[in-house]
Amino acid sequence: GYLAATAELSGVAGEVQQAPQQTITILYGSQTGNGRGIANELAEKAQAQGYSVNLVSMADYKTRQLKQETLLLAVVSTHGEGEAPDDAIELHKFLASKRAPKLDTLNYAVLALGDSSYEFFCQTGKDFDQRLSALGAKAIVPLTECDVDYESAATQWQEAVLGAVKPLVDTGASVVSIGSASTTTTGSSFTKQKPYSAELLASQKLTGRDSDRDVRHVEIDLGESGLNYQVGDALGVWFSNSDALVTEILEGLKLDGEAEVTLGDASLTLSQALKEKRELTQLYPGLVQNWAQLSGNSELQAISEDREQTRQFILKHQLADLVAKYPVDISAFQLVELLRPITPRLYSIASSQSEVASEVHLTVALVEDERESGTRFGGASHFLANAQEGAEVKVYVEPNNHFRLPENPDTPVVMIGPGTGVAPFRAFMQERAAQGAQGDSWLFFGNPHFEQDFLYQTEWQQYLKDGTLTRLDSAFSRDQAHKIYVQHRILERGEALWLWIERGAHLYICGDAERMAKDVHQALIEVIKQHGGKSEEQAEALLESLRSDKRYQKDVY
Ligand code: 2AM
Repeated sequence: GYLAATAELSGVAGEVQQAPQQTITILYGSQTGNGRGIANELAEKAQAQGYSVNLVSMADYKTRQLKQETLLLAVVSTHGEGEAPDDAIELHKFLASKRAPKLDTLNYAVLALGDSSYEFFCQTGKDFDQRLSALGAKAIVPLTECDVDYESAATQWQEAVLGAVKPLVDTGASVVSIGSASTTTTGSSFTKQKPYSAELLASQKLTGRDSDRDVRHVEIDLGESGLNYQVGDALGVWFSNSDALVTEILEGLKLDGEAEVTLGDASLTLSQALKEKRELTQLYPGLVQNWAQLSGNSELQAISEDREQTRQFILKHQLADLVAKYPVDISAFQLVELLRPITPRLYSIASSQSEVASEVHLTVALVEDERESGTRFGGASHFLANAQEGAEVKVYVEPNNHFRLPENPDTPVVMIGPGTGVAPFRAFMQERAAQGAQGDSWLFFGNPHFEQDFLYQTEWQQYLKDGTLTRLDSAFSRDQAHKIYVQHRILERGEALWLWIERGAHLYICGDAERMAKDVHQALIEVIKQHGGKSEEQAEALLESLRSDKRYQKDVY
């Protein structure tokens, strides 16, 4: 977070004395950066209108300041089964606790981000709204819930909020124009909306010829951009859809790619719009519902009326499958209106600038599925896998303050990263090597086959040899009759792992959120119970305290 230049101008000698300006506090709790982006935009708009703004991540917010606030605007997302994003966990808990103060002089507004294919849609935002209200605060606009196609709802909320703030803050003579304060938060001028056009240096296959998986090591040159990142950060990657996919959709819908469409104030061909501007490789619930109506197909209608079925459907279908399976009659204009704007994908960065300077490395799994109606690819991974050396890739850095090496390089670290989850740990090792870190480090890695899928094997061996990496345990799930996963290795090594925890080790998990991270969490609980002599509740409480001490961090997706 940053603190904008606030009422400094009111102190200028000779100026009329003005009442101290009321500050609008804008808080965000955001896992993927969407919430942060909306909060940032709101801050910029508010500042442009002359308000004094304090924009801060919920993670950095001091709860004792709550009592002093008069205007609080919060943007917060929800994950998985109604969970708060990492940023927001502490504040969320605080508001629900007995320590939360009366807030009867506070005005507030909450924007909740979520995914309506999950049962606990926008739950964290609902909780914030409900708790603030219960503590006596007054909502200046009603709670607004946004689905994955949040862009226009978020803009409307920003406008509504700024409208509602006006009579509260603009009190005649005390209007202070503060001019334009800086609103950058990352120290770089490149953002999601204004990405840097980087150059692709290399894209090499990491997995073997006989692997079921296609995982690429991608190197990108940040050139003279001045873009900086820290290990643990993610890289946002914009992409364009493939010509083959655009053609398939156009032909399936019998639409002319040369037809003119307008997007905002730009006029372009339908082909261009689909290739560059619209999301073709990820469905969302609203689109499935609309498609069900347009097609009049009863099977799709039944699916679209059931949340869980819609969620499963979305995981296994793309727009091109809808086009093939459920024919509709639709105009170019309607199609473009129905589809979401294309959104960049985030990849955990696999390098450290202390080793690679102005480069950034990624570990990218090519998403590829054989479906009834054709082979379907993931948008960004397909783009990266097919891009030629020298190609332009639009990128920006998405900071992740919840996935950081310990400040003290002598602190031991335990890194659990199966599959492409290993990416940030390559960055960690590069960083620790450059630091000459004395702290022990332990990597748990897993993938289907030793021969085919041991990502960065020679690098780990080198790090073991030079002492940067202390221990490596691997779980090759399909090299034997029964599955062996990282959590099985964790249980086998439980005694040693408990000693590491007692010695103050930081624990990191990166990779699949749905199953892996949950199973690993459960394995850690088992280790603490068995070797630390704790009960289930005590073990949970211990992991919780490690989490709040930033000793247990996750980067899961
Ligand atoms: P599998 O595909 O053979 O079942 C990276 O994707 C590795 O994670 C693979 O070896 C995969 O095994 C494994 N994996 C799948 N489900 C997992 C889970 N619940 N916990 C840990 N690893 C898992």
